[in-house]
Amino acid sequence: MYETINSPINYGGLPLKNRIIFAPTSLGLPQTEQLELLKKIACGGCAMIIIGDVPVLPSRFGPSLYTKKGFDYYRTLTDMIHAQGCKVCAQLHQSDSNLKGMIRYIPGVLTKRISMEELRPLLNQQVGPYITNLPAKKVQSITSAFGTAAKLAVQAGFDMVQVHGDRMFGSFASSLFNQRTDCYGGSPENRARFAVEAVTSIRRALPDLPIDFKLAVRQENPHYGNAGVLESELPVFVPLLEQAGVTSFHVTLANHGELSDTIPPAKHPVFSSEGCFLKFCDQVKALTNLPVCGVGGLTDPDFVEEQLKSGRIDCAAMSRQLIADSEWPNKVQNGDAKSIHRCIRCNKECLGGMMAHRGVHCIYERKK
Ligand SMILES: Cc1cc2nc3c(=O)[nH]c(=O)nc-3n(C[C@H](O)[C@H](O)[C@H](O)COP(=O)(O)O)c2cc1C
Repeated sequence: MYETINSPINYGGLPLKNRIIFAPTSLGLPQTEQLELLKKIACGGCAMIIIGDVPVLPSRFGPSLYTKKGFDYYRTLTDMIHAQGCKVCAQLHQSDSNLKGMIRYIPGVLTKRISMEELRPLLNQQVGPYITNLPAKKVQSITSAFGTAAKLAVQAGFDMVQVHGDRMFGSFASSLFNQRTDCYGGSPENRARFAVEAVTSIRRALPDLPIDFKLAVRQENPHYGNAGVLESELPVFVPLLEQAGVTSFHVTLANHGELSDTIPPAKHPVFSSEGCFLKFCDQVKALTNLPVCGVGGLTDPDFVEEQLKSGRIDCAAMSRQLIADSEWPNKVQNGDAKSIHRCIRCNKECLGGMMAHRGVHCIYERKK
């Protein structure tokens, strides 16, 4: 019944057993709980798990590919996911937060005078000046680190890397943040240079590695998303990224607005519907023959099958749905789709849990 969902695909050079991917999701859980949850998701039958926010440079935030402890953690994780017959991809990310600028907010956060919701806009205000004034040499050292990080990721057992097109890519791509006057600013070609250099660095280090690119799209009318590529600039960015070595695109709305825009609840004024960001996939599909993965409010097997069968998308990524019911792919394959716990996009325990530092959970956990 769901023959396209269950059919294999060559996803930019990586064979996947079906079309369902666990979207990059920072879980904010202690490592043992994190491994348990990822194991459960891999057992649930998805073809690939994307591990969110793997730092490109040595970092004290979260496991680092550059330390023995961090590397060993990723090795354990990739072995565990592979043992369930699932592939695993590292989302390589470079933050665009100005760490020095953040220090002044620490007392306010610690004394709870500044909430996490209040902190985000304060940090966002600093992104533009930080990106605009980053010395070109520093920019080049970051872009070349993508090759180093990708090599380490492969040594740690990852099958693929995804370049995180939000964060530093998004802010370099966006004329709202990037006011540079050198070769990294101004024209769309120049604003794409950061991403192109990073992808090239991976391609040089690993000529055969499949490279997924999380393409974060900004829309006007109404305005949503700040750090990413304007819809009208996609015809510049997509071919440049493809020439640099990208082998697939994971398409969504750009960030640096409200988190509830990129992770929209069912009551969102614009992105409330099933497959809410697929219109951006349509625009990318028109510009490339590479595989395109859709994400955002994909929960209904009939709807997902229709989008895949029509060729609108090649894979379907899900974050909240696989947290709500990791068995979604197995149930769809075994003719048991009716028993799926459908994600109702309430954001209470997933995004809510992350924001409250409880880690990612789901309202269904309480009901089980
Ligand atoms: C708790 C949580 C954490 C997330 N962390 C990341 C992340 O680390 N990197 C990323 O690119 N997207 C992240 N996302 C966004 C998801 O990958 C996805 O794009 C978004 O949730 C919409 O898909 P969905 O409707 O299937 O949840 C996160 C989403 C949630 C709910």
